[in-house]
Amino acid sequence: MYRKSYNIIEHNYDVVVVGAGGAGLRATLGLVENDLSVACLTKVYPTRSHTVAAQGGISAALGNMSEDSWKWHMYDTVKGSDWLGDQDAIEYMCREAIPAVVELEHYGVPFSRTTEGKIYQRPFGGMTTEFGDGPPANRTCSAADRTGHAILHTLYQQSLKNKAEFFIEYFALDLIMDEKDGCQGVVAWSLEDGNLHKFNAKKVILATGGYGRVYFSATSAHTCTGDGNAMALRAGVPLQDMEFVQFHPTGIYGAGCLITEGTRGEGGYLTNSEGERFMERYAPNAKDLASRDVVARSMTVEINDGRGVGKERDHIFLHLNHLDPNVISKRLPGIAETAKIFAGVDVNKEPIPVIPTCHYNMGGIPAKFTGEVVTNTDGINDTVVPNLYAIGEAACVSVHGANRLGSNSLLDLVVFGRSVAHHIGKEMKKSGKSILSKKGSEEKALDRFDSLRYSKGDVMPAKLRLDMQKTMQNHCAVFRTGEGLEKGSKKMDEIYENFSNVKITDKSLIWNTDLLETMELENLIQQAVVTVKSAENRKESRGAHARDDFRDRNDEDWLFHTLAWLKNKNIKLGARPVTLRAMSNEVQSFPPKARVY
Ligand code: FUM
Repeated sequence: MYRKSYNIIEHNYDVVVVGAGGAGLRATLGLVENDLSVACLTKVYPTRSHTVAAQGGISAALGNMSEDSWKWHMYDTVKGSDWLGDQDAIEYMCREAIPAVVELEHYGVPFSRTTEGKIYQRPFGGMTTEFGDGPPANRTCSAADRTGHAILHTLYQQSLKNKAEFFIEYFALDLIMDEKDGCQGVVAWSLEDGNLHKFNAKKVILATGGYGRVYFSATSAHTCTGDGNAMALRAGVPLQDMEFVQFHPTGIYGAGCLITEGTRGEGGYLTNSEGERFMERYAPNAKDLASRDVVARSMTVEINDGRGVGKERDHIFLHLNHLDPNVISKRLPGIAETAKIFAGVDVNKEPIPVIPTCHYNMGGIPAKFTGEVVTNTDGINDTVVPNLYAIGEAACVSVHGANRLGSNSLLDLVVFGRSVAHHIGKEMKKSGKSILSKKGSEEKALDRFDSLRYSKGDVMPAKLRLDMQKTMQNHCAVFRTGEGLEKGSKKMDEIYENFSNVKITDKSLIWNTDLLETMELENLIQQAVVTVKSAENRKESRGAHARDDFRDRNDEDWLFHTLAWLKNKNIKLGARPVTLRAMSNEVQSFPPKARVY
């Protein structure tokens, strides 16, 4: 194939981190603290990464406001995951939450405080005490309702202080792979000056976040296009558990912006058109603080049964107007502002119109708690993909299983960003000053880039994007049916096929948003196809995957992780066992049982 020749700028590093959200920055900071040479590539300015939008908090059983234990946190997380989470990794996350959050405090995160000066902790959905038998746990550490913002800025400042190198507004195109030695680096495009770069590295960490923008209504930023997941797929690495997509109960109706679960943690509640606090029927104990999938489904049932609010009876009310205005100004100032701007509501006087909105991807690149990426071709044994790591929402460790608990996401970013840095730091010390092997070539990445840049099709990317988003919203959202998934899967195949006829109008290289957004669209489409096929395949209901035609969880047939490979536009599905044993002897594992709140 003819293609333009490009002048490639080469760089050599010990480690390349792709992504500068909470996970990418925590890893970058840990690696430079280990005296490694690190390049952190990011397509947006670091403090604009989507972690900045995380509101309610980060979980850790600090016990600052009432008794707590990391073992209770572990139990809640296993139960929240509907037993699809790997219990060894969950133990690691809940145990390490405590030092990881204390470390954040010491780095300078401006957490809200109790009167004694301790980190303030609020209740969050599914977080309980006494292995589910006690009252709600005060476990979610917050900086008002701007916790992600506080963490992201602190980690960026600390990384700069430690002289980390950032390549800002660099869009990663593809991984450089060698059949034997795994990942060798990354090819990236500098949006600012249009140059193409080859980053040779001993290790590559993908910290590229989720792909919420596959859906029409999402709390995720427009930049959440799961670029690392798609790069992994194209490199022959499978994605895991992609059918599990979380819908946050309280996105603002129409706008999709997040209204934190912290509102319900501070005493907010939901009502239907009859003014009824309906969560009391669905979750008699936890009520509005049941796990997210349970609340989102209950809201959807209320709307479907004609008890939605508004002219079209298609949403639900969230009340904060009974709360002390001081609580709102001190603990929830951000959402008061958001509700005013995006819903025209004064939260002290009126309820906020809300609807379940796509918020989080439990699935991603299969990885161990050390961040090492794994694959599994026989359904039994894992194999490590050499030199490739994944952390944060891009990864599936799997600590969230079929459904993530609120405030376990900021935790996942920080705990696994920290652990990958520890792991690589140790490995590099062991192997001494290894030579950069620079195997593998950038040619494939350049071919893809160039053929898209000069594609001569007639389909507008914006139209394809809308088709994809509507297809996923209509056929693969809160409730799913076999028939709907089959239709969605066929439509997604057509959309993927149509992508070969995509039209790029702007052929330039500097800040070419036409080309950038089309490359992001290809990434999204590949993940959408995997998501809908994985969902069609899983014939049970578990966590966020709720099928009308298979209403129960079925551990006998489906207690395993889905793996999905992309091969020439086709999806091949496989399986990987779920780890049901804990990591240490300090805690017993939790065998599957019915999940009620
Ligand atoms: O509701 C929230 O503040 C979101 C938190 C989370 O997704 O962890």
